[in-house]
Amino acid sequence: MRNHETAAGWAYHDATKHSFRSVRDKAHFLDWSNKPLPFKIYTTLDPIELPREVPPLEMPALEAISSGEWGIGPPLPTPDSPLPIPDLKGLAQILYYSAGVTKIKQHPGGEIMFRAAACTGALYEIDLYLVCGDLPDLEAGVYHFSPHDFSLRRLRRGDYRGEIARATAREPDVMRAPVTIICAGTYWRNAWKYQARTYRHFGWDNGTMLANLMATATALNLPARVVMGFVDEDVNRLLGLDSDREAAFSMVSLGRTSQPAPEPPAEIERLEMETEPLSPSEFDYPAMREMHTASSLLDEDEVRRWRGSPPERREPEPQGRLIPLKPLGEEEMSREGIGAVILKRGSTRRFDRSSSLSFDQFSTLLYRSMREIPADFLGPVATASGAVPAAQHLNQLYLIVHAVDGLQPGAYSLDRERWALDLLKAGEFRREAGYLGLEQALPAEAAAAIFFIADLNAVFERFGNRGYRAAQLEAGIIGGKMYLAAYAQGFGASGLTFYDDEVIEFFSPRAQGKSAIFQVAVGKSAKRRMEVTQTAT
Ligand SMILES: Cc1cc2nc3c(=O)[nH]c(=O)nc-3n(C[C@H](O)[C@H](O)[C@H](O)COP(=O)(O)O)c2cc1C
Repeated sequence: MRNHETAAGWAYHDATKHSFRSVRDKAHFLDWSNKPLPFKIYTTLDPIELPREVPPLEMPALEAISSGEWGIGPPLPTPDSPLPIPDLKGLAQILYYSAGVTKIKQHPGGEIMFRAAACTGALYEIDLYLVCGDLPDLEAGVYHFSPHDFSLRRLRRGDYRGEIARATAREPDVMRAPVTIICAGTYWRNAWKYQARTYRHFGWDNGTMLANLMATATALNLPARVVMGFVDEDVNRLLGLDSDREAAFSMVSLGRTSQPAPEPPAEIERLEMETEPLSPSEFDYPAMREMHTASSLLDEDEVRRWRGSPPERREPEPQGRLIPLKPLGEEEMSREGIGAVILKRGSTRRFDRSSSLSFDQFSTLLYRSMREIPADFLGPVATASGAVPAAQHLNQLYLIVHAVDGLQPGAYSLDRERWALDLLKAGEFRREAGYLGLEQALPAEAAAAIFFIADLNAVFERFGNRGYRAAQLEAGIIGGKMYLAAYAQGFGASGLTFYDDEVIEFFSPRAQGKSAIFQVAVGKSAKRRMEVTQTAT
């Protein structure tokens, strides 16, 4: 039961903290001649081209990020409605809007292909794979998505969904899904710059991708659920991953079918497929592999026990004055489509210090990004008729507000039961926010810096080391939704790294004993003032 030997999880977390001292003592110089290729390119497999004419997705982005299989979005299929089974065009949309190349920018050193979702360092270390039964226009198989030429490459022919069903201990949504998308991270592609901290980045960068993926699935009326409980070795073997260099991190069941997955073959043949080298040489950071091993689930029993509800948590008594959020209603909020919003999203490179956000817009961002996430570590599955209890998250939000109209500048925490902000301390904290964000200007100049903080003691106790993966992924998903909520409303956002312990100190005593997981800054961009696309009624 390595997963419950959580000293390993804590050791990884502590060893990869940033602090004022650590960034100076462990200065890391980038060897540009050894920069890894941001794509996994199979050298011997033919591409299966995906349809390039992907129709724009019209569902308002703010609706798409906050709906889903929870009784508040598209209805679940009834016995009479057609089954939501994606075809190749639907899959192309899902893959394009979550992991596709959406922008190409020329730089003195060459070109960078930017993708649909934000990713640390634009290094794009997460790859997507599909495991599907026969679809209307795609044969059953195991496929890799290749964003560089927008195509699939078949790794295995035949229906292997049964193997995924077995690896997830017959997770109910996986059992009913015609397709499961598996996300896998390649260490070196991100560790070239971020060294051992890359294992945290797997969760963040996989999470921003899943925010887009889940929103796209919702807009296409496809039920989707995030699954993190699976037997690692079985999934890695199915995808032919070299487990010293790459590892499956999460998966998403997609759609519903009445064709149950066939029993998997007794033995899954080893796959060995040649891929292009990422760079002239690769450097290994064993701490990440150790963390991955320590958080691996070994068999179906362990998976079955692992999934379920998160640790019980009640919001603490308000410390200060509670300020209820005022999210805009469906009729007043921006109705810009999710497809258009994903295409215009980008990380804000400079915020306009002199601009503020309206309290309504800020409330809408918090409310829409903090709704339920359908995931196997976040509680019960919704039923078509049943009311769903407000699912808890593993992360709580703590905020430094600089410029939101009507909100006193200061430090706050979000009370998600009451949908209200709790004022922890009033004051101008621009300088402190910049310092906490690794001395970058972004969190100082934004309208607000939003910190994700988790009670890792409780997470480790309930979910073992694997809970660490879940906390990082969840933060990435919520952060990804914040990007989309910001761009939908005409302002900007950027993911950010941080000085771990100093963040906790700043928000203490409320945050005492907890751990910093992630940060997003939001505000108006200094470069161009984007048009606000709200439809005032
Ligand atoms: C988890 C995460 C952390 C990030 N941290 C920083 C950061 O500390 N500083 C920064 O300037 N950009 C940061 N970024 C922004 C990335 O550099 C950016 O996403 C990447 O270059 C891709 O560009 P795009 O988001 O405009 O598509 C972060 C992004 C993510 C998703």
